Amino acid sequence: MNPSDYEYLRKLLKDHSGLDLSADKQYLIESRLLPLSRKCGVPGIGELVQKMKGGSSLIIAQVVEAMTTNETFFFRDKVPFDHFRDAIMPEMLKARASRKSIRIWCAAGSTGQEPYSLAMSLKEMGAALAGWRVEIIATDLSTEVLEKSKAGVYSQFEVQRGLPIQLLVKYFKQNGELWQINPELRAMIQHRQLNLLHDFSQLGTFDIIFCRNVLIYFDQETKIGVFDRLSRSVERDGYLVLGAAETVVGLTDTFKPVADRRGLYVPNAIGKPGVTTPPRLALVQGGR
Ligand SMILES: C[S@@+](CC[C@H](N)C(=O)[O-])C[C@H]1O[C@@H](n2cnc3c(N)ncnc32)[C@H](O)[C@@H]1O
Repeated sequence: MNPSDYEYLRKLLKDHSGLDLSADKQYLIESRLLPLSRKCGVPGIGELVQKMKGGSSLIIAQVVEAMTTNETFFFRDKVPFDHFRDAIMPEMLKARASRKSIRIWCAAGSTGQEPYSLAMSLKEMGAALAGWRVEIIATDLSTEVLEKSKAGVYSQFEVQRGLPIQLLVKYFKQNGELWQINPELRAMIQHRQLNLLHDFSQLGTFDIIFCRNVLIYFDQETKIGVFDRLSRSVERDGYLVLGAAETVVGLTDTFKPVADRRGLYVPNAIGKPGVTTPPRLALVQGGR
């Protein structure tokens, strides 16, 4: 790949998906885009770039999708799901007792293992949620992963990654070599295509936002912009859950970490005149 094609692709990916590639990631582009160029019937990446420069929005979208990393698995990292069950949901059940409704956003939910892990966790809470309306919105930039998430069909390999056997037996039906998630769980998730670089205020506000393992691909300025928008999409007493390699620390004061709950953050009222952080679990570092 020639250096000017590489620079063109780097800038395009940064602008369209936030992906921040260092100067030495030619191999990554080649490994992801050579199969796409073959699929598009052109001999190499140079020709793909020519098509993109010619304004082919379809090719641009395919290139952006091909460059996303969609790695995910059920109950990934476990700890955030323990926080969800042991800290966030008990708190929310108290805080939302009068309205009996909870909105959860799984931003960058990839092929669905993360939103379905949340749905299974909710189902496991049983009677505690009887009569409650719980919405889970799963979004992603990639339409391809969203289609898989909507289908809720997983291979043997995929269900063996992170999913406890008793939950597999309880919530999936085997169909040959594949496993289909229970229709009731499937119906709990609404899917939407959404780019975190764009305005997402149309989704409304959420009590809980899982936004994990996507910000790691963005540069600092892009992360700050996303945190700023997320802070306007989360309820004042809501929660943000980030991936193990992600943090707000040193980037923004719109959220603050919860003590002893790795990956868990709450909106910070500091700097917002007239707004105070509401009372909540004795979890927040430094109190209120
Ligand atoms: C590594 S996966 C993480 C999936 C899941 N959250 C998890 O932690 O297992 C990252 C996902 O982010 C999505 N993504 C990348 N850039 C995005 C953007 N700008 N807006 C929304 N989603 C994006 C990718 O398509 C991919 O599915």
